[in-house]
Parts: sequence; C-alpha cells; structure tokens
Amino acid sequence: MRLRGKTALITGAARGIGLEFARAYIAEGATVALADINADAVAQAAADLGPQALAVQMDIGDQASIEAGFAQAIAQMGKLDILINNAALFTAGPLTEITRADYDRIFAVNVAGTLFCMQAAAKHMIARGEGGRIINMASQAGRRGESLVAVYCASKAAVISLTQSAGLNLIPHRINVNAIAPGVVDGEHWDHVDSLFAKYEGRAPGEKKRIVGDSVPYGRMGTAQDLVGMAIFLATDEANYICAQTFGVDGGNWMA
Ligand SMILES: NC(=O)c1ccc[n+]([C@@H]2O[C@H](COP(=O)([O-])OP(=O)(O)OC[C@H]3O[C@@H](n4cnc5c(N)ncnc54)[C@H](O)[C@@H]3O)[C@@H](O)[C@H]2O)c1
Repeated sequence: MRLRGKTALITGAARGIGLEFARAYIAEGATVALADINADAVAQAAADLGPQALAVQMDIGDQASIEAGFAQAIAQMGKLDILINNAALFTAGPLTEITRADYDRIFAVNVAGTLFCMQAAAKHMIARGEGGRIINMASQAGRRGESLVAVYCASKAAVISLTQSAGLNLIPHRINVNAIAPGVVDGEHWDHVDSLFAKYEGRAPGEKKRIVGDSVPYGRMGTAQDLVGMAIFLATDEANYICAQTFGVDGGNWMA
C-alpha cells in the first residue's frame, strides 16, 4: 500500500500501459482518474477496476478538454497528487511521405498534450502547496532517431526535453517531474506498429514484433507489467530527490 491516500490522473488509461498503471496504483491504495479520449472504453475500464477508479473523457490534444478533465478529476477526488502523462499516438513512414497534417496530429497529442497536462496539474499542485509527482511516458524512440519513425521519435525526444525543463521549473515547489522510457512493449499499440512495418518494410504480419523482441538484451519484448515498478517508485517518498530524469525500462535496449 505504498500509495495509500494518494490520488492520480493517468491519461490514455483505457488500455495498454496506462490501464496497467491504473490497476497497479489502485492495488497500492491510490484513487485513480482514468482519462482517455475513448469514452466508452475508459468508462468500462474504470467500472472494471472498482470504486477507487473514476472515468474522465479527455482529449489531451484539446485545451478545453484538458481543463475540463482536470477540473472534473480534482472535484471528484478532492486533490491531485500524481499525474502520469501516458496517452500518445504513433505514426511511421518514409520521410518523403510525411504530411503536415499527420505531424500536427502527433505533436498536438504527444508534445502539446504532455505539456499542457503538466501545466494543468502543476497549477493545482502549486496552489495546494503540498508538492506532487508528474511522470511522463517518453520512449527509447526519443533517444535515437529511426529511419521510418521521424515524427514519433521527435515527439518523444521533445517529451524528454520537456521533462528536464519542467523538472527544473517545478522542483522548488516539490513537484518531481520524471519520465519513463520504455523499449518495445507488447500490446495493441505494437500491433499497430507491426502493421505499419509490414507495409513499409514488406514484412509478414508479426515478423517485426518477433525481430524486435529477439533483439532485446533481456530476450523478449516488454510487457506493461514490466513498467509498473518504476511508475510506483517514482510516485513514492523514496524518489523525493529524483527530478528531471528519464529512466529506461527496456530490457537493456538503451544505455544512458
Ligand atoms: N507500447 C510500446 O512499445 C511503447 C514503447 C515506448 C513508449 N510507449 C509509450 O507508452 C505510452 C502508452 O503506450 P501504450 O502501448 O499503452 O499505447 P496504446 O496505444 O495501447 O494506448 C494509448 C491510449 O491513449 C489513448 N489516447 C490516444 N489519443 C488520446 C488523446 N488525444 N487524449 C486522450 N487519450 C488518448 C488511447 O485511446 C489509448 O487508450 C505512450 O506514451 C507510448 O508512446 C509505448
């Protein structure tokens, strides 16, 4: 029960890593607002998790939606101790096929969404005066470019940079901002990634997944469960002196 009495808002929590984080935080005693653009899925996810979960329909690409979603979550939970900026979109393709519309769509969610959710949380946490925790989901893709993944990689590099600047700006308020950089995590997200590589690299369905899993030093793709320990640790008092960092949880793929 390391998060007993804490409240958290997790974006993109209707499925995948965000949903696993919500489940783990609740098991540690937290109350969690699951925020997601997919209203039906997030309502079902919150209902499945029980009375310590509440559903918030929020589009982090839309400023009014962010403000309304945070207001709802804070009103219902009474306060916000922890934000996990987890929602993100993936795109891939050769440089010559990138469209401005797709670039704008990815950056509106992965970068602006992360920034303005941090801002919404920070305004509340500063006014409350009791500190807080913000955990951003970066990626190994933010450490190094990839041939077919320019826009997503750049967006995750921006998340690492925002974590550094926000971390420095907010630590005087005892708001610790850090990030987790997963490697390759199996789930619906990677099913989509696999289908894009099948298209652009002429691979059979499932082939890219197998290759990336085999190349992880640990010996397999990650699971959402593999990330839970870091997400809990960063929210506890044991992480008080840690700020502005990005931690790889990737089976050894990237060495910082
Ligand atoms: N899966 C991986 O291999 C991997 C690797 C590195 C980093 N990450 C990062 O981890 C995070 C979670 O990944 P995942 O695999 O669980 O992704 P996912 O695609 O399975 O889930 C993303 C969730 O975000 C929601 N969402 C999308 N756009 C939104 C918006 N505008 N507003 C609110 N919610 C929105 C979706 O409805 C979905 O529920 C992401 O930031 C991702 O970039 C994932």
